[in-house]
Amino acid sequence: MANDRRPDDMVRITTPELADAFINEQIDALRAQIGDNKVLLALSGGVDSSVVAAMLIKAIGDNLTCVHVNHGLLRKGEPEQVISVFRDQMKANLIYVDATDRFLDKLAGVSDPETKRKIIGAEFIEVFAEEARKLDGIKFLGQGTIWPDILESEKGIKAHHNAGGLPEDLNFELVEPVKILFKDEVRIVGERLGLPANMVYRQPFPGPGLGVRCPGAITRDRLEAVRESDAILREEFANHGLEGKVWQYFTVVPDFKSTGIRDGARTFEWAVIIRAVNTTDAMSAEVENIPFDLMQLLVKRITTEVKGVNRVLYDFTPKPSGTIEFE
Ligand code: XMP
Repeated sequence: MANDRRPDDMVRITTPELADAFINEQIDALRAQIGDNKVLLALSGGVDSSVVAAMLIKAIGDNLTCVHVNHGLLRKGEPEQVISVFRDQMKANLIYVDATDRFLDKLAGVSDPETKRKIIGAEFIEVFAEEARKLDGIKFLGQGTIWPDILESEKGIKAHHNAGGLPEDLNFELVEPVKILFKDEVRIVGERLGLPANMVYRQPFPGPGLGVRCPGAITRDRLEAVRESDAILREEFANHGLEGKVWQYFTVVPDFKSTGIRDGARTFEWAVIIRAVNTTDAMSAEVENIPFDLMQLLVKRITTEVKGVNRVLYDFTPKPSGTIEFE
């Protein structure tokens, strides 16, 4: 690749013109690097892998194969959006794998947070590797590495997650077309490549997905309660102008039930916890001051629309002492 490191004098990409210039330069570089070979990409639907997919579709078209693994822990509407944007609109070569049952079966009864994360990570690699082995003639692996990933791994803050863990028989060369970009630049480039704003500007979402928002052993009913309550929260934040203003907001459904009452009868059901925080670097975070009338609307909607939920709580804890996620 022409640029392996971000040049010290590189102008920050802040305008459509700068983004277009970067895209054109990268497309030439990608074509030179890849030639007529084939590229495989794990497409999560997150910002970075989506932008890499859009860039590679533009550069090499059908020689890119995207694999979207649905681990069953995605938010409501996410796998559908990946299929609609990439397969239907961008005409990508997209393999969609619904591995929900595989993941949930492996996770059944597992309550330790780190064990849950490890199972999800390992199973993800396993499913992706199985798909890769079914394909012929793949030489490259596309990756959504960005500049902060490289800086952080150099400083020893976090391991470079990319490429890590694929079995040895899958000996791919890497293609990393956004690796000299900062996150804000990746978003502008994504917009110029035609990706929808809600994909490019979406809030951070952890790799283990809703799995870390279902503390304790994951069950299908609680997972459904997390997914449905999260969808209501996102809808109402958008309706009330908070989308894009609050850094991260989501719901959590812990493994406990409490007594309630509905239609004159006793209930014994789950509680939904709402979390909404602001931060610049996720190292510390402040709790968002949600208007009381919006809070009341959320309680009303969640307790009437989400099955098995009779109570809604708000998490007032900053980071520290709490982390942003619960696990
Ligand atoms: P915590 O919970 O550590 O989270 O305060 C800080 C930020 O990182 C996100 N997060 C993750 N992102 N994979 C990711 O890609 C993960 O395993 C993961 N865990 C936490 C979290 O959503 C928050 O934005």
